[in-house]
Amino acid sequence: MAIERFVSAQQRPDEEQRNWSLRPTRMAEYVGQPDLLQRLRITIQAVRSRNEPMEHVLLHGPPGLGKTTLAHVIAEEMNSRVHVTSGPALSRGTDLVSALTRVEPNDVLFIDEIHRLPIAVEEFIYPAMEDFRIDVPVDSGLSARTVQIHLKPFTLIGATTRAGLVSAPLRSRFGITHHLKFYTPSELLLILERSCRLLAVPGDREGLEAIAQRSRGTPRIANRLLRRVRDFSQVKSDGRISTPMVAEALALEGVDALGLDEIDRTYLRTIATTYEGGPVGLEAVAATMNEDSGTLEDVVEPYLLQIGFLARTKRGRSLTRTGAEHMGLKLSAQAAAPQLFEE
Ligand SMILES: Nc1ncnc2c1ncn2[C@@H]1O[C@H](COP(=O)(O)OP(=O)(O)OP(=O)(O)O)[C@@H](O)[C@H]1O
Ligand SMILES: [Mg+2]
Repeated sequence: MAIERFVSAQQRPDEEQRNWSLRPTRMAEYVGQPDLLQRLRITIQAVRSRNEPMEHVLLHGPPGLGKTTLAHVIAEEMNSRVHVTSGPALSRGTDLVSALTRVEPNDVLFIDEIHRLPIAVEEFIYPAMEDFRIDVPVDSGLSARTVQIHLKPFTLIGATTRAGLVSAPLRSRFGITHHLKFYTPSELLLILERSCRLLAVPGDREGLEAIAQRSRGTPRIANRLLRRVRDFSQVKSDGRISTPMVAEALALEGVDALGLDEIDRTYLRTIATTYEGGPVGLEAVAATMNEDSGTLEDVVEPYLLQIGFLARTKRGRSLTRTGAEHMGLKLSAQAAAPQLFEE
């Protein structure tokens, strides 16, 4: 069963376009991720003064945290253009050649879902990243030889939600590798205030804070909730984003005060009741819920781990005491105790 959920961090088909106006284009507008931004600012200033391309950057982290946005921001700050492609779109070496020969000096080539780059293409990419050249094989058998294509200096920005699936040789060729973190409620509040200004939506601070609380640390979700509450308030009230409007609109979507939805609750309840709080293997929970384990791991667990409702150990997943309390469930003393002794 595919998960179709309102608080999914994954992009919805029409969302890219709607978000375009909300997407920051300069570093000064990009909220959060302070460590990464500081590193980038220094690097960009240095390479610009030497008129060199920026180092290759690998961005990884859960969906909706701003990887694509950041690739565009970096290009903007470098005064260059972005060429967007993705791992699955580069199915043959020639696809990469045609993408890279269009690149002008210091441009950015953005490869989304870089973990899905075929191995055969990966081998072409190594010399491109290191020496700005591609070795294209021509002929085969006895007359086999390679022709070198020289490229303009460029920056590769790779994005992935699955850093573990990026091969070690590819990963080692990036000068900057960074894991994007979930945003704090105060960072999300800044993002929401900015979105309100851009969309000309009136909002109370408390109302926006209530949305931030329910956004699962993810800007994409924050903007989506904002649009939903705006519609609701426009129909039911005066169009303002206020706390009661947020609570009502999002209760209608099955989203609770912390941004958890029915799938999160079923997941927590399954561990609490069927497996007595855990530890239990992910596969067993997935089978009980009739869900795909990879989906649970990618879209349900990261936020539950982040807010400390779930603990992951070698022996499996366990519900924590705070997780049980939020759900109004009681863990047996036995179920809660073993966590104290694990790693
Ligand atoms: N730092 C930020 N400041 C303000 N808004 C942001 C920020 N990061 C992301 N956003 C908003 O969130 C939306 C989603 O971000 P983006 O598409 O860059 O995520 P992503 O990490 O590339 O996701 P995916 O893994 O699904 O490709 C953007 O359209 C933008 O409106
Ligand atoms: Mg993206």
